[in-house]
Amino acid sequence: NTELSLRPKGLAEYIGQNKVKENLAIFIQAAKARKEALDHVLLYGPPGLGKTTLANIIANEMGAGFKVTSGPTIERAGDLAAILSSLQPYDILFIDEIHRLNRAVEEVLYPAMEDFALDIMLGKGPGAQSVRIEIPPFTLVGATTRAGSLSSPLRDRFGVVSKLEFYDEEQLKEIVLRASKILGVQITDDGAGEIARRSRGTPRIANRILKRVRDFAQVKGEGVIDLKTAKEGLNLLEIDELGLDKTDRIIIDTIIECFGGGPVGVESLAATISEEVNTIEDVYEPFLLQIGLISRTPRGRIVTAKGYQHLGKLHKYKLEGGA
Ligand code: ADE
Repeated sequence: NTELSLRPKGLAEYIGQNKVKENLAIFIQAAKARKEALDHVLLYGPPGLGKTTLANIIANEMGAGFKVTSGPTIERAGDLAAILSSLQPYDILFIDEIHRLNRAVEEVLYPAMEDFALDIMLGKGPGAQSVRIEIPPFTLVGATTRAGSLSSPLRDRFGVVSKLEFYDEEQLKEIVLRASKILGVQITDDGAGEIARRSRGTPRIANRILKRVRDFAQVKGEGVIDLKTAKEGLNLLEIDELGLDKTDRIIIDTIIECFGGGPVGVESLAATISEEVNTIEDVYEPFLLQIGLISRTPRGRIVTAKGYQHLGKLHKYKLEGGA
């Protein structure tokens, strides 16, 4: 599985997110020296920036076991209790999409995080009793695209809260060069730079594009990814100069053509383009906001002058110089 083998195993191999890395390195070293479990860690930010990879690295660096689950797969309190009671001391338990845990399951998590304990209810009604059982010390690493949708009691129980940011071109280029080496693909410096520039600040996208451009280079070229092959491959994938894909452009175009450039609420937008509200909010919007093609107002999303320009469309207020 190349997806897995491309993932760095240790902090030293992990490119970018320097602030997060520096902090984690210190907390890990301190916890190890005290022979304690690392404090619970919450990682948040857009998809594809390396939350799962970092969780895995934390386990490797701690020399601890790694267990993976996700918010939507833990349906009942008992499911989580079973997972927690099967942990080995110092294990890292990774819960992806932790904002999607339901209330009853969250309640199980609080004493587990705080006291390494499970409160089990025996019986129902007035005669019900609660017994507390101990579980091994462990580290919860939670990942979410939206820190804002975590309940505050849950958020407050994380000792370390780290936000992952979009990567800059230079870091992405390093990631592409590293992945090329692992995949055994020949790539030029400017070929890697072109893929980096058009990867929406996201390593997962950079690696996906690299694999597709490799196919293109193999079939249509000499197998080497140079600037020309990279450009041709990216164009064939319908990824534009800024790294936007078809859906990104449909979002901007729809706001312009169907909603007069906005403001439009995300529900109306989602219904018009047949996408999920969550997908627009978590996957597409963060990057479009980051590079300033759309912006958020209290009344909804609007396309900026730069957004109009990118699609080659005339801004309705252009002559008055408004945004
Ligand atoms: N592959 C994907 N993300 C990476 C990162 N942050 N560093 C190195 N390789 C990666």
